[in-house]
Amino acid sequence: MTLKTSLKGVAVLCAATAVSCGGPKSDLPVYMDESKPLDERVEDALGRLTLEEKVALIHAQSKFSSRGVPRLGIPDLWTDDGPHGVRPEVLWDEWNQAGWTNDSCTAFPALTCLAATWNPEMSALYGKSLGEEARYREKDVILGPGINIYRTPLNGRNFEYMGEDPYLTSKMVVPYIRNLQKNGVAACVKHFALNNQEAHRHTVNVTVDDRALREIYLPGFKAAVQEGGAWSIMGAYNLYKGQHCCHNEYLLNDILKDEWGFDGAVISDWGGTYDTDQAAMNGLDMEFGTGTDGLTVSAKNAYDKYYMALPYLEKLRSGELPVAQLDDKVRRVLKLNFRTAMNTHKPFGSMNSPEHLAAARQIGGEGIVLLKNDNSVLPIDLDSAKKILVVGENAIKMMTVGGGSSSLKVQHEVLPLEGIKTAAEGKAEVIYERGYVGDVSTVFDAVDSGQDLSESRSESRLISDAVKAAKEADAVIFVGGLNKSTNQDCEGDDRRQYGLPYAQDKVIEALAEANSNLAVLLVSGNAVEMPWIDKVPAVAQVWFLGSQAGNAIADVVFGKVNPSGKLPFSFPVKLEDSAPHALGAYDVADETEYKESIFVGYRWHDTRNIAPLFAFGHGLSYTTFGYSNVRADKSSMSSDGILKVSVDVTNTGSRQGKEVVQMYIGDEESSLPRPVKELKGFRKVDLAPGETATVTFEVEPEMLQFYDDVEGCWKSEPGKFTAYVGAASDDIRGTVEFELK
Ligand code: GLC
Repeated sequence: MTLKTSLKGVAVLCAATAVSCGGPKSDLPVYMDESKPLDERVEDALGRLTLEEKVALIHAQSKFSSRGVPRLGIPDLWTDDGPHGVRPEVLWDEWNQAGWTNDSCTAFPALTCLAATWNPEMSALYGKSLGEEARYREKDVILGPGINIYRTPLNGRNFEYMGEDPYLTSKMVVPYIRNLQKNGVAACVKHFALNNQEAHRHTVNVTVDDRALREIYLPGFKAAVQEGGAWSIMGAYNLYKGQHCCHNEYLLNDILKDEWGFDGAVISDWGGTYDTDQAAMNGLDMEFGTGTDGLTVSAKNAYDKYYMALPYLEKLRSGELPVAQLDDKVRRVLKLNFRTAMNTHKPFGSMNSPEHLAAARQIGGEGIVLLKNDNSVLPIDLDSAKKILVVGENAIKMMTVGGGSSSLKVQHEVLPLEGIKTAAEGKAEVIYERGYVGDVSTVFDAVDSGQDLSESRSESRLISDAVKAAKEADAVIFVGGLNKSTNQDCEGDDRRQYGLPYAQDKVIEALAEANSNLAVLLVSGNAVEMPWIDKVPAVAQVWFLGSQAGNAIADVVFGKVNPSGKLPFSFPVKLEDSAPHALGAYDVADETEYKESIFVGYRWHDTRNIAPLFAFGHGLSYTTFGYSNVRADKSSMSSDGILKVSVDVTNTGSRQGKEVVQMYIGDEESSLPRPVKELKGFRKVDLAPGETATVTFEVEPEMLQFYDDVEGCWKSEPGKFTAYVGAASDDIRGTVEFELK
């Protein structure tokens, strides 16, 4: 392990040496003495700073870094994308990669896949592994995780987030943050808030009622702050109540800092700052990306022109703006720096280690969702299938390159075809047909996947070639879905259609005709329309899986791993079945009103009795599970008590398997409209054939509350409630009623 030094490293090492070599501690200034309380160190540093040094701390000096205080040995702060892996080094003020040769990384599965594991242990492993890579790359802040709620299947960035449910998101985001930050790397939870579409993302003003804001869109961020202890938060691009979220009084000062007690730093999205006075007074602490090429259209903009640079300094000097707010920003930035860059107790990290590749593979294998599996087409038995046909561009196209700021430069990406071939080596012949041509581009931000995806055959020829091969195969695996190109699963714009792009539907129909032993694997971070679903016996949602994609897919397809993923968002049959599209509330203009309020996803499907194609929480296994004896330990609970709901779960099949047992709660008598049921508990159990486990959920009073937007507070009302226990939101295996006194 070479411990790379940099100016920062040397400054910090000097400090460390002074401490670790037994130099008298009293020699260290208080702000450098890590044995002192953080707030005391911050106050000491603050008192030493000039006005100019304070202002220099709160805005960028390059694309991804902000200035420290060289005079005091306070190092610069380095941030980097992204939620799924550490972005390659970029040029000082460019989005394009700098062409380093030691910054290839491990790409971990997209966060939709992590959410689909429904396993907080996987989230902890994820945060630890990513934190080690970020630490090794000497990044102080990783710009992730993203946790915006899945409101519409057209949102280009849904793949980066954790789905439609605030409870699942809240439980899955906390271990990621905690274990990332143990490496001395700050999480920067994004995008706060209401950034639920990419269309017009810089200008759209979101209107949403307080119930939906509090019950659906904020809980993940609140958990990230209060349980995860996130050290930074990123403001969103969009507006809310007419103010840009990067300097939004209500969201940042009233809720995040005052009500939730957030003690970290609010970092703007890149180019999300628009006004000096608002930035100064409405809770923004660090300004990044303003006036840079790429995101915001403007000439090269010297960093001194930033809204929180000279324009702010001048207003401070003239007394037009108070120093108190500046000092609050500086305290938060210093605290972020002391927790990360100046933290001499952090480990040294690691990059592309076998452990990280194993983590990526394990998380992927646990996140893959088996949606349908008639006639047990899956797993494919390599002792009987001697000729396997793989069809589809997504079997050979790299998905770690592209998609926007989460794009990566990986050391190696195991593609689906490669993973399938490796697993079948010596047992079955694997042949490949393109089937369709999607997007042959291979470059993003000057990172080139180096693939040649060119294809000269016509659409009909591609299909006929695939069909011909399918007729002679024992099993057919179609690998399709979306990709990371614009208007697909990509930042900066939304999808233009709910159906699969390119000629995929035609190919799938033709393959289903040619061979009934067909499995369709969907590589995507979004729901898609499946007009062919009744003709295809097996379908799996395989996500964007990162560096180990092909291996994780092969593990499940050939049965080495028994799939245990569950959907973190609903798959509507057609777009109009999804709330915003049913209500004409998905606008691409500069006003979007969330007319569905709290009825997002399965909350909408349940309330309107619209059967989804595949439901939130749905996911099959290669074994089966029986549920019995759903019960409560009492028939009523008081507003300060706990009620326990239990269920016995048995593996009734013939192989080991994991099952995510889910508990939803419905309020049977409420003064305000409430969803039929809402997720309030889940547990992943691992059972041997015939084994039974008793799963017990603790129902706490706040789980019964709703946000009363008339009184402006959380409340619960006495009366009847129902606990629904099952394997999916549309697969309830038992209920038990209880009363809140
Ligand atoms: C992008 C994204 C944000 C990212 C930042 C830096 O526009 O919205 O998620 O971290 O800018 O690349």
